[in-house]
Amino acid sequence: MPITPHGGELIDRILTGDALKAAQERAASLPRIVVNTYTSFDIDGIAKGIFSPLTGFMTEEQTRNVLDKMHLSDGVPWTIPILLAVSEEEASKLATGEEVALEDDEGDLVAILHLSEMFRMDHEEIAEKVYLTTDASHPGVAYTRSLGPVFLAGDLDVLKARTVEYQDYNLTPAQTRAAFKERGWKRIVAFQTRNPIHRAHEYLTKCALEMCDGLLIHPLMGTTKSDDIPGDVRMKCYEALMEKYYPHEHVMLSIMPVNMRYAGPKEAIMHAIIRRNYGCTHFIVGRDHAGVGNFYGTYDAHEIFDNFYAAEMGITPLFFDHSFWSKVTNSMASKKTCPGGNEDHIFLSGTKVREMLKRGEMPPEEFTRPEVAKILMEWAQSVNS
Ligand code: ADX
Repeated sequence: MPITPHGGELIDRILTGDALKAAQERAASLPRIVVNTYTSFDIDGIAKGIFSPLTGFMTEEQTRNVLDKMHLSDGVPWTIPILLAVSEEEASKLATGEEVALEDDEGDLVAILHLSEMFRMDHEEIAEKVYLTTDASHPGVAYTRSLGPVFLAGDLDVLKARTVEYQDYNLTPAQTRAAFKERGWKRIVAFQTRNPIHRAHEYLTKCALEMCDGLLIHPLMGTTKSDDIPGDVRMKCYEALMEKYYPHEHVMLSIMPVNMRYAGPKEAIMHAIIRRNYGCTHFIVGRDHAGVGNFYGTYDAHEIFDNFYAAEMGITPLFFDHSFWSKVTNSMASKKTCPGGNEDHIFLSGTKVREMLKRGEMPPEEFTRPEVAKILMEWAQSVNS
């Protein structure tokens, strides 16, 4: 039996056929809201069932439950509100109970919102409860503060699925589920990443794969902060690794078109839930998962899982300690699996790697595969010049 979607049903809000035609005609005369790129990705997440069981943007009650209880109103785990914010001026043209046309960041009419509620909520409270800080240097806090004051809630009917640059890799949850079935994989572990895959990442994925039938390398490709490595560069790195270092019978590369929130522990839960929807049975959670700066403890994203029953999560987290190259064992390891002190470890922070690349220095093979280092070097030099 394949793993059930979160909440029991894989949501599909994309209209087709006559329903689509009728909605397109109707939409022309509806009040229209233009949404930003971030919200466009959220619409896509709802449309394709990536955010199952959500069928639209959250109501005040749902948002409160998510913020205060880490569950949706019907008791299903959920940790980050999915909200549609507008300005006072935009809200003044809308009426509850009516339909609203949503235009995306590319100028396409993408969805009809069945506006069930308009509400206001303190942005500071949202930030504090999602990101566990109100420090403006946190990208999630800064984004929350930038939002309009009125939230629009309601179900969505989506007229157009979002396509992205790496569309061949953009499998929907229904498609990954079908692909796993075709390959006969029963235990499937997902790997979330917003970075190139370095040796530590590779180690995690391979340890996990030893216990599973298949590995889904599932890089996040929604919006990320401006100093994260761009998607096209990362994609080249993933392809190079797939080519040489991963066996294709057991590994699949597909992207996840979801925004990065940098919410650490709360986002780890969201990432796991989403991968359940994609049909995965296991999910890798390593050191400072989805963290940024020093906002979260190294293992906060492990500990948060203690708040949930295994059955309600429905996907099994696989926790990994901080890993590195050990000069003593001459292999990848963590403090759990090798002796020696910090002086025996080779580990580089993202900042350090970037500095090296800027200076034209290749990061060592113990940190990253040479094929990946080469791609990163070319990118760093092109940005520098
Ligand atoms: S994240 O924002 O997607 O979490 P990143 O792409 O760096 O950032 O990490 C992907 C996954 O690998 C996360 O689960 C993270 O915790 C884990 N990870 C990254 N580096 C290490 C490391 N050196 N040791 C253990 N886990 C790691």
